[in-house]
Amino acid sequence: MWRVSSTVPWGACAVARGEFYGYYLGWAGPARRAYAAGLALELPSGYSRADCVVVCGMGGSGAAGDYLAALSAAYGGLPVYVVKSAEPPRWVRGCLVYAVSFSGNTRETLNCASRAYRLGGYVVAVTTGGRLAAWARRVGVPVAVVEEAPAPRAGWPQLFYTLLGSLKAAGLIQVPGGHVEESIQLLGERERAEAEARELAEWLQGSRGSLVVLAPEPYYPVAVRTRSELAENAKLTADAAQVPEAGHNMLEAWARSGDTRILLLDPGEEPWSTLLHQAAGLARPASLHVARLRGGSMLSRMVWGTWLAGLASVRYALDAGLDPEPVKTIKAFRRVVEETTGWDALD
Ligand code: F6R
Repeated sequence: MWRVSSTVPWGACAVARGEFYGYYLGWAGPARRAYAAGLALELPSGYSRADCVVVCGMGGSGAAGDYLAALSAAYGGLPVYVVKSAEPPRWVRGCLVYAVSFSGNTRETLNCASRAYRLGGYVVAVTTGGRLAAWARRVGVPVAVVEEAPAPRAGWPQLFYTLLGSLKAAGLIQVPGGHVEESIQLLGERERAEAEARELAEWLQGSRGSLVVLAPEPYYPVAVRTRSELAENAKLTADAAQVPEAGHNMLEAWARSGDTRILLLDPGEEPWSTLLHQAAGLARPASLHVARLRGGSMLSRMVWGTWLAGLASVRYALDAGLDPEPVKTIKAFRRVVEETTGWDALD
């Protein structure tokens, strides 16, 4: 199991560059353990009355919520609303609220958790520890303690599968167990993932122009996550867009600019594949790369795309001589948030 010496705010330890990549490569282990832990998480009996789900979380932690919202919409389950700021919705009373913060010290998430609690939400803390865990224990709400990782974003399997397991155990999402198992097994296909990540990293190095990650609407969270992984690990700017929506606005600008390069996240299912390729053709990109989302279910394809994005963004950084792990500008912003807002620190 991964251990770090400090969690304030996270990753105060230095991680060897190769180890960071190796951690992503080994996602199958944390994914399996997190799913089991999520299934086993005991929620107070009153929580079963929940009729909506709210996920509070920022960056790598909030991403888990985007996936659950898309999966619940596609498979069935309670509506999932994702908060990427400090305030839960006014109607949070009666919702199951996952306050997700890898470090447990993100001010926006701490504030969201305490406000949701006071407004009558059924709060669950999902974290490695920090202030969030301490507060949750103090007020008596459940804490799902997740395994450490070299950075919050690298701990995506812990966060996502813990939430998925917990929602499944409570009967609040209808993703079949077989789909979950297949998605975790897919994370064992290291050679294929590495080869495809290398190809993607090489394309990113070798092509020029403003980068757009384009996915069909149900897979949009994977495009957004890819954008974040490229930003944090590869220090690379990208936009994330979805079909059909982008075909009703962005396409006009891409077609005119002539310097757009498109990364297509293709799930290999219709009508999405045809729509994606047609949209990409109309955009007349300077360069196009197709990343196939592998797997036999929507869940597996999302997990595969997420894994690929992580591996490729780290590989890109390593090949460019960059250290993918430090995010000093993000840390500076976190200090700005702490100094300029009155958001609850839960001390
Ligand atoms: C850093 C990372 C960030 C954090 C975000 C919130 O690796 O992924 O996007 O996830 O700053 O921090 P946590 O997850 O600790 O609440």
